[in-house]
Amino acid sequence: MITVTSAKELAKQVAAAKAAGKKVAFVPTMGALHEGHLSLIKLAQQKADFVVASIFVNPLQFGKNEDFDRYPRTLEADAQKLSSQNTDLLFAPSVDEIYPALTEGEEAKPTKQAGPIGAVLEGAARPGHFDGMLTVVARLFELVQPNIAIFGAKDAQQLFLIRRMAVADFPGLEIVEAPTVRELGGLAMSSRNAYLSESEHDVAEKIFRALRLARDAASSVNAALQTAQEQLLALAENGTRSSSSPEAKLDYVSLVDAETFEPLDEDFHGRALLLVAVVIGKTRLIDNIEIIF
Ligand code: PAF
Repeated sequence: MITVTSAKELAKQVAAAKAAGKKVAFVPTMGALHEGHLSLIKLAQQKADFVVASIFVNPLQFGKNEDFDRYPRTLEADAQKLSSQNTDLLFAPSVDEIYPALTEGEEAKPTKQAGPIGAVLEGAARPGHFDGMLTVVARLFELVQPNIAIFGAKDAQQLFLIRRMAVADFPGLEIVEAPTVRELGGLAMSSRNAYLSESEHDVAEKIFRALRLARDAASSVNAALQTAQEQLLALAENGTRSSSSPEAKLDYVSLVDAETFEPLDEDFHGRALLLVAVVIGKTRLIDNIEIIF
């Protein structure tokens, strides 16, 4: 695996791969890699001939009170994992390389706007998050110039917004959705799982169980939502009532049309996503499940 930190060297390597007739796949990450990320690399390898991964903890997508400073940074171990997976190239840029216009003391500003869908659900809880996320993803697309880019289904709202941006600004770039990888107990893999204590982890495992119960009860839009709400509120209440259980707070549970991210009418037919965010202790976890009505 080649590791580069400069945009210039990255462009040279990608141009050489393309000149050799290779299709280039891109897997952007913020590091702290787990099996979920490696599944994205594997999918990229099935779909392309030259796989670029990036590791960049993007300051623009963290709010002031969020975990930017404590976000796990494990570059050496991550590089080792990517190399063992036969990734072709790792791009691990500095903040200056990604946002070169910044002068000292000046703060980077998002150059992309996620619009109304970027202001609901995750966007409501994390104002500005999706503008910052789209800004860095667009910048990375410009630098890497991939033919395809792979994103995990767990971050469904992120994936929706990236797809929409790609259609508008990166014609010809194929965005590929990779299925969520789960632990044996069902918890969706996430770099933030590393923050969970054992008891918090036990509670977190119940999130996917609640989503599955809601999907199985989905005789109607209302029935699915009601089951999900009941299950998730019970999980949160349990945490509040019992002093031995970690505190859990249900932020939202929502059913949206997978094609538009708009809330569903009761008579909706088609592919929907049941989305949830739960804060367990200090850790915010999201997950989702597909439901066909
Ligand atoms: O999903 C992530 O890890 C990040 O949001 C991404 C897409 C790498 C942009 O920083």
